[in-house]
Amino acid sequence: MKAWLIENDDGIDALNLTDVEIGDPGPGEVRVKIKTSSINRRDMNTVIAPSARNTPLPRIPNSDGAGEVVAVGDKVSEFNPGDRVASCFFKRWHAGRISPAIMGSALGGAEEGMLSEETILPEGALVHLPEHLNWDEAGTLTCAGVTAWHGLVARGGLKAGETVLLLGTGGVSIFGLQFAKMMGARVIITSKSDEKLERARELGADETINYAETPDWDDAVKDLTDGVGVDHIVEVGGAGTLQKSVGALAFGGHIALIGVLTQGELNPYPLLGKSGRISGIYVGSREMFQNMNAAISANAMRPIIDRTFDFDDARAAYHCMQSDSHFGKIVIRSGA
Ligand SMILES: NC(=O)c1ccc[n+]([C@@H]2O[C@H](COP(=O)([O-])OP(=O)(O)OC[C@H]3O[C@@H](n4cnc5c(N)ncnc54)[C@H](OP(=O)(O)O)[C@@H]3O)[C@@H](O)[C@H]2O)c1
Repeated sequence: MKAWLIENDDGIDALNLTDVEIGDPGPGEVRVKIKTSSINRRDMNTVIAPSARNTPLPRIPNSDGAGEVVAVGDKVSEFNPGDRVASCFFKRWHAGRISPAIMGSALGGAEEGMLSEETILPEGALVHLPEHLNWDEAGTLTCAGVTAWHGLVARGGLKAGETVLLLGTGGVSIFGLQFAKMMGARVIITSKSDEKLERARELGADETINYAETPDWDDAVKDLTDGVGVDHIVEVGGAGTLQKSVGALAFGGHIALIGVLTQGELNPYPLLGKSGRISGIYVGSREMFQNMNAAISANAMRPIIDRTFDFDDARAAYHCMQSDSHFGKIVIRSGA
């Protein structure tokens, strides 16, 4: 079967499509014919600079994948041939708290990823898919979806009537928008693009702020909330946006610290003064993924896909993310 491999630090155009042998599933393992895989910013960064991220080479990239079970090993209890499944970001985070051992089991990093025609995974690294999702949609859930769910719901405890701030319109933030509206929250979202903000409004965003035109977007958030601030922030900007996020937070609010898009420094005292909480979020467990899928099914929610690429055009998909023009997810179709 064919797989894309990161073989060196020479970037996207050095990705190599090659033949790889994966054998048969052993006890507790499942062989999956992959239909789609989506790209996260982290996958693009891994392709561009694998050595800086201590990625073993050669390595198949991408944590996200959805496909059909084609064979199961002995003692597999949850899956049968024909089942529709998705990969979990961590091979070994089933439930409970994360640990160093779990952190060393990320697909497309320490472990082989999903940008291939087939894969073999332990059954504990797979989940059943919501029935209503097509293959393109199903391939988007693993990283961005679970991260947004973890930050807002599992850790954040989001409740109906609360206010959520989302930074930008990438994969994590658009899942955050969909989950927040699904749960009855009021949503404020930022972007550098008015066109993307218009699309966010069509998805239910209540208020929008162009952060390129309004650099003091924290003040704009306060104005939109009668000076109170927001209850939850999906913080994908990182160190360079965190101070303003603290400024936009309500007393007792929660910041899900997710992204590393910008550099900067934080004065922690305003957070203390507000009794705010910051939680480091590293994707999430299989149990969170299953809970998220239950909510997606109950609400017939459909992930938002910006563009899809054929398997042979995988390099173009990473270039598309690099151009930063996307809204939501970028998908690569692997399957025949
Ligand atoms: N901790 C975790 O487990 C975890 C999981 C997933 C992702 N992440 C991280 O979260 C971040 C987003 O990931 P992603 O996959 O959603 O990326 P993505 O799809 O590429 O989205 C990135 C978007 O962020 C927005 N953005 C960029 N700079 C910004 C700024 N200064 N202020 C506000 N928004 C800004 C842009 O949206 P506009 O074009 O609309 O401005 C951009 O399109 C990355 O740093 C990624 O590594 C972390």
